[in-house]
Amino acid sequence: MNILVTGGAGFIGSNFVFLELKEHPEDKIICVDKLTYAGNLKTLKDVMDNPQFKFYKTDICDREAIDKIFAEEKPDIVVNFAAESHVDRSIENPEVFLETNIIGTSVLMDASRKYGVKRYHQVSTDEVYGDLPLDRPDLFFTEETPLHTSSPYSSSKAGADLLVSAYHRTFGLPVTISRCSNNYGPYQFPEKLIPLMIANALADKSLPVYGEGLNVRDWLYVEDHCKAIDLIIRKGTVGEVYNIGGHNEMKNIDIVKIILNELGKPESLITHVTDRKGHDQRYAIDPAKIHAELGWLPETMFKDGIKKTIQWYLDNKEWWEDIISGDYQNYYEEMYGKKEVIE
Ligand SMILES: NC(=O)c1ccc[n+]([C@@H]2O[C@H](COP(=O)([O-])OP(=O)(O)OC[C@H]3O[C@@H](n4cnc5c(N)ncnc54)[C@H](O)[C@@H]3O)[C@@H](O)[C@H]2O)c1
Repeated sequence: MNILVTGGAGFIGSNFVFLELKEHPEDKIICVDKLTYAGNLKTLKDVMDNPQFKFYKTDICDREAIDKIFAEEKPDIVVNFAAESHVDRSIENPEVFLETNIIGTSVLMDASRKYGVKRYHQVSTDEVYGDLPLDRPDLFFTEETPLHTSSPYSSSKAGADLLVSAYHRTFGLPVTISRCSNNYGPYQFPEKLIPLMIANALADKSLPVYGEGLNVRDWLYVEDHCKAIDLIIRKGTVGEVYNIGGHNEMKNIDIVKIILNELGKPESLITHVTDRKGHDQRYAIDPAKIHAELGWLPETMFKDGIKKTIQWYLDNKEWWEDIISGDYQNYYEEMYGKKEVIE
């Protein structure tokens, strides 16, 4: 099968590319990524020469270029990870979120219709459900929870989800949607909570925590998310939404303390900063449906996953130090500037 993966130079998309090439060596992976600030080609360096892998530096909003790629590659399955993904950036500049997350999704689905893909899978987020109160630990997001967004980011993702459902109902496009909780693991861009705190702690810099740090997130090891998507695209039911989460709720402040403790750094590095505008209080997924229908369960416990993640950042300092210094953005030019590149 030919699987077209968008956003494969980002955090979750790259982990998905690695999983697919390992678990399904018979399948071909076609990666489409614009290489925004969040996309890093260095992440994919070990697979660039794999004959089952092909990379296109392309914007998913570029209709003509996307059409050409579909005509050339004839994907059986499309998995759309490409997105502007950082809530704080969406508060500063919402527009690019609407372009990539909504328009980009429609461009991919139009091409999917035209070339008759067997499955279009939209990678969405639990943030489309809004938040839950901190004092109601009995409440969880199910697939039936109404969409009720807080940030321009989550609104753009919810807009895309509605469009995906509409393409299924109106045009019969064979779609699935997954809505996952917060991910952590290797190759996460160091603006997000866990890698940011690891990088700052290692540099003995202050660790900025929004407000009291009492906001609760439901953390899932990235490989578990990727395995869930792999199951959905191969065995999931067309037209369905699947929530993905590991019942692993943690307060932000507790995550930060665990990281400091693992690295042997003092809690005095924590500084409390003005809270994010419209900050969601609690996210918590009910993953009963994907467990019952597809047999998916998370395999990595948080206590093991966080150790593995910290160790990965310790072992791969060059990867994130290059990002922090901005050097990674020259890598594409250095590596591929002189080669023939598919753009
Ligand atoms: N990170 C999480 O905790 C989490 C949780 C649930 C769902 N998600 C969803 O998973 C997906 C991937 O998230 P991530 O954390 O890996 O994001 P990321 O920001 O690390 O990666 C996004 C990737 O998309 C690429 N991209 C951005 N705009 C593009 C465009 N117009 N055309 C082509 N490529 C473009 C970037 O270059 C980058 O490689 C997103 O759709 C996000 O909404 C993320």
